[in-house]
Amino acid sequence: MTTFSLTTSSSPSIAIFPSHKVSRINRNIYSGFTEHMGRCIYGGIYDPGNPNKHLLDSRGFRQDVLEALRPLQVPVFRYPGGNFCATYHWQDGVGPVQDRPARPELAWGNVETNHFGTDEFMQWCQAANAEPYLCLNFGTGTLDEAMAWVEYCNGTKDTYYANLRRQNGHPDPYQVKYWALGNEMWGPWQIEQMTQEAYAERAVQWAKALKLLDPSIQLILCGKEGATSWDYHTLKRCLQPAGLSDLGEERLPLVDMHSIHLYTASHDHYENVTAPLAAERSIEVCSGLIDLAIVENKIPASQKRPTICFDEWNVWSPPRAPGSQGAEEKYTLSDALAVAVWLNVLVRKSRDVGMACIAQSVNVISPLMTTDTGIIRQTIWWPYELFCRFMKGHTVAVHVACEAYAGSTKPDWVRAVKDTPWLDVSATVDDDGWVSVCVVNIHRESDLMTRLGGVDGQKVKVYTITGGHPEVTNMAGTEEVGLKESDWDPDPSQDFAFVFPKCSVTMLRWKMQ
Ligand code: AHR
Repeated sequence: MTTFSLTTSSSPSIAIFPSHKVSRINRNIYSGFTEHMGRCIYGGIYDPGNPNKHLLDSRGFRQDVLEALRPLQVPVFRYPGGNFCATYHWQDGVGPVQDRPARPELAWGNVETNHFGTDEFMQWCQAANAEPYLCLNFGTGTLDEAMAWVEYCNGTKDTYYANLRRQNGHPDPYQVKYWALGNEMWGPWQIEQMTQEAYAERAVQWAKALKLLDPSIQLILCGKEGATSWDYHTLKRCLQPAGLSDLGEERLPLVDMHSIHLYTASHDHYENVTAPLAAERSIEVCSGLIDLAIVENKIPASQKRPTICFDEWNVWSPPRAPGSQGAEEKYTLSDALAVAVWLNVLVRKSRDVGMACIAQSVNVISPLMTTDTGIIRQTIWWPYELFCRFMKGHTVAVHVACEAYAGSTKPDWVRAVKDTPWLDVSATVDDDGWVSVCVVNIHRESDLMTRLGGVDGQKVKVYTITGGHPEVTNMAGTEEVGLKESDWDPDPSQDFAFVFPKCSVTMLRWKMQ
């Protein structure tokens, strides 16, 4: 929880209360997303045609990509889309590679060779030490096909699709826990766009069958942006009381998480860095809609409350980086600040968010880019890395007092519903007693000397992300925006003041005494 009070004094202050734990952070908020789109799979994580063979392992996986991602301990990767799911038939992508059919791919206008499919993705997740999260085809797919996929991945009995997996060389079940009931089914760009009523009806029927087949799975409902009537309707229809039916049968909860998506962007720095606050309000409203469905549907308190799965989020302007051209956004320092504000939002809202997937993990609107000869860490890599490494355990209470940006926001309604302080802050304490505080100074002209409460007597490690100007990128191959480490001894005679540089992300860390 962060509280903010507006001050007209030129001296901001941040008080951190590490012993006031607000909520447990689910590490799954640092999850990733790999879609068959642009160069994410082919040329990103899987690149067998690359002449620089030293970059590849024996399966054609990019080792430099895996080596970059592994230290982040990305917990989950979503796959195979996104919009790609709506015409994807998983059976095209299993079995001998030479026998797999090439198909027209309608979401992004490509040809899908199916050389990379379910088994390759499972092996890649194992190599990345991450769990898979699969999205079902709610467009041209059928329930039969969806059940067959669950059986192929998780089946342990002597059944057709479990045996097909064994026949393909994979004796052990993959135990895929997370399954999405379609992707953005409300979108006019979808193959088989649906009304909220039609979608909710189908989601209920599929969920019932899928949970009968494998009660261990978690199902993710396809919401919209969190604060829409689609979210209200789908939650209201699909959150149902579990427990014993009239016939004495145990009914499982149909859905475990509610997915929402949002991309933010603006060429204007202040609109860009304040836009993620729209996500914060969307989470708050969506959380209220979950509660409303619980109340209206009389869900018993003993039933686990569904969380929000923010399974696509990032800075992305489709006109600037069109999906049909691979959506290779070139991220700026301003975007790095925006991503840090996004991550602050996810930490502040850790009570409600059970999973979040940065979209995407390689090449497509991504912190990490590949070339034929290596990788480039974009500006937004650095806040993502810092949060994955350090912002875990519990969210803790913070009070921020400073002046606020008062100009236009994007969307416009952010201005009406959120404060937009110059310093955007979240704080955590991990299970070893390390306190981490992320402070984003969104001001493009002013360093902000800030009094810190809660750091008395601490030896503080400082991690700073900044660069020459808000528009600078790393895409020329030089690291214009990187990570600098230093130490700070808070000085009581200086009122424990720390200067947060203009246009920067700073993480302060200390071990509680
Ligand atoms: O992540 C890129 C695309 O954005 C996804 O395929 C889709 O779900 C969203 O519209």
